[in-house]
Amino acid sequence: MDRKYIIRGGKPLTGDVQISGAKNSAVAILPATIFVRGVVTLDNVPDISDVHAMLDILKFLGARVVEYNGPEHKLVIDTSGVRPHPIGHALTGTCRASYYLLGALLGCFGTADVAMPGGCAFGSRPINLHIMGFRRLGAEVEELEHFAGGGGGVTIRSNGLRGARISFDKESVGATINVMMAAAFATGRTTIQNAAREPHIVDLASFLNQLGARIMGAGTENITIDGVPADSLKRNDISHSIIADQIEAGTFMTAAAATRGNVTLYNVIPTHLRPITDALTATGVCVEEDEIEETVRVWVPGNTKLSGTNITARPYPSFPTDMQPQMTAFLSTCGGDSKVSEEVWDTRFGYVRELRKFGARIIQYDNKNIKVEACLSGLHGASVEALDLRAGAAMLVAGLAAEGVTEVTHIEYIERGYENVVSKLEGLGADITVI
Ligand code: EPU
Repeated sequence: MDRKYIIRGGKPLTGDVQISGAKNSAVAILPATIFVRGVVTLDNVPDISDVHAMLDILKFLGARVVEYNGPEHKLVIDTSGVRPHPIGHALTGTCRASYYLLGALLGCFGTADVAMPGGCAFGSRPINLHIMGFRRLGAEVEELEHFAGGGGGVTIRSNGLRGARISFDKESVGATINVMMAAAFATGRTTIQNAAREPHIVDLASFLNQLGARIMGAGTENITIDGVPADSLKRNDISHSIIADQIEAGTFMTAAAATRGNVTLYNVIPTHLRPITDALTATGVCVEEDEIEETVRVWVPGNTKLSGTNITARPYPSFPTDMQPQMTAFLSTCGGDSKVSEEVWDTRFGYVRELRKFGARIIQYDNKNIKVEACLSGLHGASVEALDLRAGAAMLVAGLAAEGVTEVTHIEYIERGYENVVSKLEGLGADITVI
């Protein structure tokens, strides 16, 4: 039987919580360890199912996990035995970020065969920009409708990649990362225009640069990559610490605010949280950042009546789409109206129907815009489904704030991206159990 979370909500979260390393950074840096063809030590690796799924793929390709201590977040991996085998659906199906194997295998071996996971709860996940980038670098790319074991896949071949000017008509995190990996060891200079700027792109660039790559401008919209020969790479003493998870931190911030609690988050990068902080403070929530200590404290002074606010999810450094559902859950507890718009994905409001079960008053205008109406008498517990990772996180936020009992099903989505979420919440005084 499916496991569920049972939450007895309505209790303010209070205390300290340690934020884990960033999922979206880990799932990009793990494939990039292939370039080392040797031993890499990673710290601050989140112990989540997406990381386990990526490790399964790397092991299938021939990597050896020398040491992995989930609770200590330390991973030592030896990629000297990796070879470019075709990766089928059984391995990619549970890990959407498996498309990073395209860039990593292409850059390393000049060949990649990877089954593509299908769409997801918030629409199709096209990779046309990734493919355009690989082709611009001189690779031959074939999209297959039927790839080993059914479903679609991509096959790429190259006799040597050459630097190119690549201009994306849309900011794409995945395409930026894939082109960075493929171009790092190509011949000549690659420029990426309209690159995505998310913090994990900077984290991956600093990992690749540590190996000897020459990637400049990561974190801005123009990235320049001077290809270096693969045989000049540093292959020893490679260690890297994954940055803190912006979205896990943001989720705890909204949960603290929704329960009118008082929570200090440790191991965070406050600048990455700024758009979330700004949205919370606009409603009257107090947020105190400490850049030096890498902490953020979120609290709601007693009797404060929180107002609504308007947010629009856009690429970094704007408000992150991966925080849009959790912020909506928080806004459903506020005493004023809010507007929430989504500009990254075609649609990401499927969770609204679940949120309404808590008594949230939400009007959906279209696929991109909703209005969250003032909360009149608080949220009440409900039986809801986690429709995807962040939709599931929104159910947690609402369930923690709601009076009464909440049951959340399909929690495997939540566990893809949140490490030990139950024990972390229990540490803050939440009444949550898994059955
Ligand atoms: N897009 C295209 N063509 C492409 C690629 C993307 O049209 O070839 C479009 C998408 O349809 C979307 C927009 O561009 O409308 C942005 O997509 P992006 O490529 O940036 O998304 P992604 O790389 O597939 C990553 C995160 C997502 C996060 C988005 C946006 C990882 C593993 N995933 O996805 O994270 O929502 O960036 O920030 O890094 C999550 O963690 O819950 C999650 C879904």
